[in-house]
Amino acid sequence: MKFFIDTANIDEIKAAMDMGILDGVTTNPSLVSKEVVGLDKAREHLKQICDLVEDRPVSLEAVSEKYDDLVAEAQDLAAVAENAVIKVPMTVDGIKTVNALAPEGIDFNVTLVFSPLQVLMAAKVGATYVSPFIGRLDDVGHDGMELIAQAMEIIGNYGYDTEVLVASIRHPMHVVRAAMIGADVATIPFKVIAQMVKHPLTDVGIEKFLADWKKVTG
Ligand code: E4P
Repeated sequence: MKFFIDTANIDEIKAAMDMGILDGVTTNPSLVSKEVVGLDKAREHLKQICDLVEDRPVSLEAVSEKYDDLVAEAQDLAAVAENAVIKVPMTVDGIKTVNALAPEGIDFNVTLVFSPLQVLMAAKVGATYVSPFIGRLDDVGHDGMELIAQAMEIIGNYGYDTEVLVASIRHPMHVVRAAMIGADVATIPFKVIAQMVKHPLTDVGIEKFLADWKKVTG
């Protein structure tokens, strides 16, 4: 399973890289707004992230709504770095943009996906990633993980190359369930990555072994 980090924070990205578990990064306007203000600064910051993670994919979100604007913005964002993946919303204009530019070699991540039909539409136009937002579905009383199972089945049925990127992860059990389903990628907030390493019995065990080792060494 690939682990992406869902952040625009450089220190968090560095920490995940240092752990040796990082396969990519996803950003969005809300995450970028926590780090920088100003369009030029934002571009500079996103470029810094792309360079930092070298050849790992970094999702940069387009904010245009109309097709022509989305095409222009996607081309512009794709020029930021070789490893830029362009996030477009699951709208008619969004999928038209993927359909037009994916054949030119631009990688797309179709975002804000909340239904199995939206997954199918993204795969059909050749998105590299499709991002079902499971936490936001859970928030409104749906089972987000059910959508991941549906997405994996639909994409598997037809052999699409699109990878299912589990997004809007809120806690470690989301990652466990996504891994058991066999989802291709999970994009995980740093706080959850840190929780994934922890277990109270590991801490208790270390404490006991260290205390016992002291008896050996005096
Ligand atoms: C995915 O690419 C999005 O950036 C992200 O997972 C959204 O998560 P949220 O629902 O916690 O904002």
